Amino acid sequence: MLELKEIHSFYGRSHILQGVSLNVQAGEIVCLLGRNGVGKSTTLKTIIGIVQARSGRIFFKGEEITSIPTHEIVRKGISYVPEDRRIFPNLTVRENLILGTQNLAKASQETKRKNLEKVYTYFPRLGVRKNQLGGTFSGGEQQMLTIARGLMGNPQMMLLDEPCEGLAPIIVQELTKIIPLLCQSEGLTLLLVEQNAHVALKLAQRGYVLEKGEITYHGPCHEMRESEEVKRKCGI
Ligand SMILES: Nc1ncnc2c1ncn2[C@@H]1O[C@H](COP(=O)(O)OP(=O)(O)OP(=O)(O)O)[C@@H](O)[C@H]1O
Ligand SMILES: [Mg+2]
Repeated sequence: MLELKEIHSFYGRSHILQGVSLNVQAGEIVCLLGRNGVGKSTTLKTIIGIVQARSGRIFFKGEEITSIPTHEIVRKGISYVPEDRRIFPNLTVRENLILGTQNLAKASQETKRKNLEKVYTYFPRLGVRKNQLGGTFSGGEQQMLTIARGLMGNPQMMLLDEPCEGLAPIIVQELTKIIPLLCQSEGLTLLLVEQNAHVALKLAQRGYVLEKGEITYHGPCHEMRESEEVKRKCGI
């Protein structure tokens, strides 16, 4: 469904991604692991077009998406949930969620209503508190809101950057239950970046390890869980 071929990305003169190739098949959960600063977020930003690849090619459902604008990539069915949970603090939960439908070509009132119902079933707490301002939510609730907003645009694929970062273990547990459920019920394909390798390797079927902008390991998660090499590379 998604394929990166030899991607090189830069910030100014800093050469960050140094030939990243990876693929995600439809229906899979794939994780991208690695220590701080190795280029995990940059990989997601390059896929979604916030960072332009200097060379290499990216394909989504067989179609090249390298160097097309972000909003067009989103419209093709990829949703990006950044690590810094950009919710709008002065908008209500419901208003924050509705913003997630902006990239649907024609989001009728009916679609908005149906999608709201859908996300409230996965995240009941958002439904109960739909009129509350986003800014009054806890970190965990804001994370749920960001993921839920990503779902409002009916994506086929989600790029999820560190969903569990800084959250209490109980919320992490809740998220690790919801995420696979979502993928199954919604037929969502997921590329998951996560510092918490234990969580990621539990959720995903396959994984890649990034070191200094290069993929240095990939394999099925059941192998990665046992691998000393992966533990060393990820610093766990
Ligand atoms: N906007 C930017 N301008 C310049 N350098 C940047 C920018 N964003 C990131 N970098 C640098 O690029 C490198 C890769 O950053 P990136 O955010 O992709 O790492 P990461 O693997 O996601 O790390 P973390 O686990 O801390 O989130 C880092 O050295 C970082 O300092
Ligand atoms: Mg990051």
